[in-house]
Amino acid sequence: MNILLTGGAGYIGSHTYVALLEAGYTPVILDNFSNSHPAVLGRLQRVTDRQVLCETGDVRDTAFVQDVLRKHSIQAVIHLAGDKAVGESVANPLKYYFNNLGGAISLMQAMQAVDCKVLVFSSSATVYGDPASVPIAEHFPRSHTNPYGHTKLVIEDMLAAQSAARPDWKVAVLRYFNPVGAHACGLIGEDPAGIPNNLMPYISRVALGQLPFLEVFGGDYPTPDGTGVRDYIHVCDLAEGHVAAVRAMLGGSSGMQVNLGTGRGYSVLEVVRAFEQASGRTVRHRIAPRRPGDVAQCYANPGLARQQLGWQARRTLEQMCADAWRWQSGNPNGYRDDA
Ligand code: NAD
Ligand code: UD1
Repeated sequence: MNILLTGGAGYIGSHTYVALLEAGYTPVILDNFSNSHPAVLGRLQRVTDRQVLCETGDVRDTAFVQDVLRKHSIQAVIHLAGDKAVGESVANPLKYYFNNLGGAISLMQAMQAVDCKVLVFSSSATVYGDPASVPIAEHFPRSHTNPYGHTKLVIEDMLAAQSAARPDWKVAVLRYFNPVGAHACGLIGEDPAGIPNNLMPYISRVALGQLPFLEVFGGDYPTPDGTGVRDYIHVCDLAEGHVAAVRAMLGGSSGMQVNLGTGRGYSVLEVVRAFEQASGRTVRHRIAPRRPGDVAQCYANPGLARQQLGWQARRTLEQMCADAWRWQSGNPNGYRDDA
């Protein structure tokens, strides 16, 4: 069964590609490589020992997407393509509204034109804004604090409207918490351009000596050690969550909105210590002012995903750190060293 992965060359997409193949599906990547490197395709071929199906183009090109859907007889789409940097979205909101909203609308129009009705969407815990309490359940109120988060919220609403108008559409909205780590083979992983914004890739580069020290954003939060608490989830667990969602949607489930997290929060300092253990390196760090827009604690109630998808995260923080380190130390320049 053929599954289209928009944004399939990216961090989460490449891991989902491997998980889909392992589960017996045939994934087809659609990507414009605006935030990924074509060398990932060669790596995926090495990991899976199979020729990679990839269509290079923009998801906002509706005619192109229609052609791809038809050409590969696509049964379901996992929509990951989009821009994701919060700070950049504040500085350049139109880029985010154009790409994220434009991409989702174009994809849905193309799917409607060819009568493809199964869609899994990459949403984010960012739609919960600053939650009143933790753990966060799916019925919690949604809000946004930046244009990136706003695009996720609007796309969720567009999908709900489309499902209401077309009850034969099956839509799964997956709200990711904090994806980290890499496939255990060490060949694929997170490869941010420039200085990373997110914690785990930043720590990896400090451990490698590419960055001098980590700034811990805030040491005075109302958390056990004063640093921010997040629900880090291994990217391979997340990838398997997508497979479970596709299976459920193709198996007749009518649609869902679920958290993909572990249900366990770790502080910044706990992650630093776990990374030091896993890598055998020291992660130099110092407490810095809070980062604007950050919340003290954010972790999931993962019960609904367990119930509706029969899925739960299995991998530990130690595995997340060990796998992130294997990827980063084996590929200090990411995919850029590949021909
Ligand atoms: P990523 O940037 O590594 O992957 C996104 C991919 O989409 C890239 O390969 C990029 O080239 C491609 N792309 C972007 N715009 C496109 C367009 N118009 N047409 C075709 N391809 C396009 O990001 P990721 O971390 O893999 O995230 C995937 C999705 O998950 C995104 O929608 C992101 O918002 C969402 N998400 C990510 C996180 C996270 O922490 N990584 C958390 C929550 C939600
Ligand atoms: C961020 C985004 C969120 C997005 C998610 C995944 C913000 C405000 N939120 O979440 O919308 O869905 O990434 O892409 O940007 N930290 C440090 N030092 C660093 C980096 C991070 O102390 O150099 C801390 C943060 O304060 C936070 C934790 O580490 O407590 C995790 O940060 P990060 O990896 O950026 O993820 P989030 O902020 O949770």
